[in-house]
Amino acid sequence: MAAMIIDGKALAAKVKEEVRTRAQKLAVRPGLAVIIVGDNPASRVYVNGKKKDCEECGFYSEEHALPGTASQQELLDLIAVLNEREDIDGILVQLPLPGQFNEQEVLRAIRPDKDVDCFHPYNVGKLMIGEDGFLPCTPSGVMRMLEEYGVDVAGKHCVVVGRSNIVGKPQAILMLRKHATVTVCHSRTPDLAEQCRKADVLVAAVGKVGLITADMVKDGAVVIDVAMNRNEQGKLCGDVCYEKVAQKASHITPVPGGVGPMTRAMLMENTLYAAKNHGK
Ligand code: GUN
Repeated sequence: MAAMIIDGKALAAKVKEEVRTRAQKLAVRPGLAVIIVGDNPASRVYVNGKKKDCEECGFYSEEHALPGTASQQELLDLIAVLNEREDIDGILVQLPLPGQFNEQEVLRAIRPDKDVDCFHPYNVGKLMIGEDGFLPCTPSGVMRMLEEYGVDVAGKHCVVVGRSNIVGKPQAILMLRKHATVTVCHSRTPDLAEQCRKADVLVAAVGKVGLITADMVKDGAVVIDVAMNRNEQGKLCGDVCYEKVAQKASHITPVPGGVGPMTRAMLMENTLYAAKNHGK
C-alpha cells in the first residue's frame, strides 16, 4: 500500500501560525539576527526564507551580509554587538562558513540564551542530559512531524543514517529522550542495508542521492528524508528513492515539502522561546 505522505509544508504553516498567535501576546516582538558570510547560493535561499518566516510570525528580523573575504575577528565582533542588543533575541550564523573561519569558535561566541540553532556546546550539553532549553531545529522538526502523524517512537527501533552535529547526532538524542532504541549509521557502517531494514523509523540525513533504496526499508516503516540534494536532472531530491520506498513505507516525507519547512518553523519557535526567556 502507498505510504501516507507527511506534509511538512502544511504542518510548518500551522506551527508558524501558532507562533504568530503566541508572539502577538508579548509586549515586545521577538527579534532575530541572521548572519550570512560570502555568496553561497544555497545559503542565500535559506536566509531569504528565514526572513520571510519572521515576517509571517510578526518578528523583527535583520540580516548581516559579510563578504566572503571577511575575517574571523570581524565576525566575532559582529556577534559580540548582537549579543548585547536587547532587541535581538536570537542570532543565527548561516553555515557553512567559508574555509578561513573557525566554525566552532564562531558558534561558541553566540551567547547561549540567543543560540536559536542550539549549536553552542552549553546547549548541546543540556540537550544531551535532557534539560529544558533550545532544541535543534531540524531534529525537533522531525519529532514534531512524527508526533503530529501519531508515530510514537517509544520502544521502537529508530535508525539514523548520518552523524552530523546539525542533524544525525541530535536526532539520535531526541529519539532516545522519547524512549526509542536508536542506531546511528555512517560511512563506516559495514552493512548499511541490514541496519536500515531493522528500522521502524528510518531517518536519512547524509546528502547522497539514491542512498536509501526500497530493499533497505522494512514493510510499514516510517521514512524521514532530511537531505536536500539535486539529482542529475538538477531536480531537488533527498537521500531516499522516493517512488519505490513510498510503496513499502507506512509514512514518508517528500523532498521538497517535508523536513525543510519544519526546520524553518522550529527556528521561529526557538526565537519565540528566546524572547520569552528575555522577559518579552
Ligand atoms: N546550514 C544548513 N543547515 C543549517 C542550520 O540548521 N542552521 C544554520 N545556521 N546553518 C545551516
